[in-house]
Amino acid sequence: MSEGAETAMEPPVAGRPHRLGLSSKLLVLTVLFVMIGEVLIYVPSIANFHKTEIEDRLRTATVAARALTTTGTGELPPDLQSGLLRDLDAYALAVRVGGMKRLLAMSAMPPPVAREIDVTRLSPVDAVREGFETLLFGNSRTIRALGPYQGTGEIEVVFSETGLKKAMLGYSRNILILSLVISGVAAILVYVSLRRLFVRPMQRLGTAVKRWSEDPEDPSRIIVPSGRRDEIGDAEFQLAAMQRHLQDVLKQQRRLAELGLAVSKINHDLRNLLASAQLMSDRLVSLPDPTVQRFAPKLLGSLDRAITYCQAVLAYGKAQEAPPARRLIALHRLAADVGDVTGVSAHASIEWVNQVPPDLEVDADPDQLFRVLLNLVRNAAQALEQSGDDALVRRLTIAAGRTGAVVRITVSDTGPGVPAKARENLFKPFQGSARRGGTGLGLAIAAELVRAHGGHIALADAAPGAVFEIEIPDRPVPLGEVRRSRAS
Ligand SMILES: Nc1ncnc2c1ncn2[C@@H]1O[C@H](COP(=O)(O)OP(=O)(O)O)[C@@H](O)[C@H]1O
Ligand SMILES: [Mg+2]
Repeated sequence: MSEGAETAMEPPVAGRPHRLGLSSKLLVLTVLFVMIGEVLIYVPSIANFHKTEIEDRLRTATVAARALTTTGTGELPPDLQSGLLRDLDAYALAVRVGGMKRLLAMSAMPPPVAREIDVTRLSPVDAVREGFETLLFGNSRTIRALGPYQGTGEIEVVFSETGLKKAMLGYSRNILILSLVISGVAAILVYVSLRRLFVRPMQRLGTAVKRWSEDPEDPSRIIVPSGRRDEIGDAEFQLAAMQRHLQDVLKQQRRLAELGLAVSKINHDLRNLLASAQLMSDRLVSLPDPTVQRFAPKLLGSLDRAITYCQAVLAYGKAQEAPPARRLIALHRLAADVGDVTGVSAHASIEWVNQVPPDLEVDADPDQLFRVLLNLVRNAAQALEQSGDDALVRRLTIAAGRTGAVVRITVSDTGPGVPAKARENLFKPFQGSARRGGTGLGLAIAAELVRAHGGHIALADAAPGAVFEIEIPDRPVPLGEVRRSRAS
């Protein structure tokens, strides 16, 4: 029993190696999120940059066109045209006013136009599409850009993608560098502050728990809350409270275990003393003295009960019931055996009724189920034997049936019923007995065994006598079988 107290706490677990610590995870996540944010910003801003570049060209062209159209109506000299186009980085420049198109300047051999972009009719989605068209697929195709000119007119500039794409690439590079810097700075800030706020305190908690579990009974190892007023401070506070509570429980448990050990030692010696007393009393019976003859059987009976009690307590102290080893049991036979062993089936004044269907099978531990039924039947027989009146019906019935995967067994008798005093602690060890010489262990053990089967035991409310009900879930039953048995 004393080992029980020492093994009650699991040995401290060596901290599992971290694949990636909380800090590194935070770092990676921060960089990732900042980058995602930058991409989300980059898409519209590069599209806007593209559009603005084109509008700039159109605006510059507009200024030139206005100057040219106000000074004269004739064609410009070729050297002026090529100078103008070089300044605009364009192949051609034209305006359309009042339905009349006027070509202001044109290079000698302009390449064919591949794309046309009308800035007045560019929706935001189109702006993004056109922008990426230039950025990703632009080589040296020719673009015709159209924009408004003097209210109702239109200006038209034809130019190559090359310059535009180069400007866009430069802009992208700047944004990339900027976002790297921003995400770096943000990541460092987040990392440092989260490390302070969470990671360190978590490590502190972990260390405190580990240190405590190495010697849970040492009061100096209880965590001292840091006094933070947040969730972690709360956790520290709760942990300290739990550790204090556990220490009390441990102390109490150890004391109980020591007490239990002492009791079982005393019990052991007591049993031996009683056994030798019993041996001597056996000899007394043979004395002819009438007084001895009167008292000796009573003395023997008392000694017998005392020894049985000692044995039961010893057995209970030792017992950690093994987990059930389930086998298929013919329940009718098992019940009949219980009747035979307890002597109820051949009893002079008790009527034994075994109502268990002969074909009922249950998947359970045969020994344990036997002991459960033995305890119930013995209790019932004891209750029936109590009353001396011969006119009373003394019937002990054991019945059973299956519902799906659950077998229900009832043990009922026509005795006086369970006394109120016994009902209160019926399934608790050493507490439920209301019988002279009883230990109050029978039902406690029965309940423990039934629970180990995942089942349930209860005292049903029955008017005359007592009815104990056991439910044992055993195995899934094939549906077809159940249907057939229902149909028949
Ligand atoms: N069938 C029954 N009829 C009446 N009383 C019962 C019956 N079964 C159990 N009891 C009561 O429950 C008490 C506890 O039973 P149990 O746990 O077997 O301990 P014990 O038999 O050692 O007293 C008994 O003392 C008895 O008073
Ligand atoms: Mg009993």
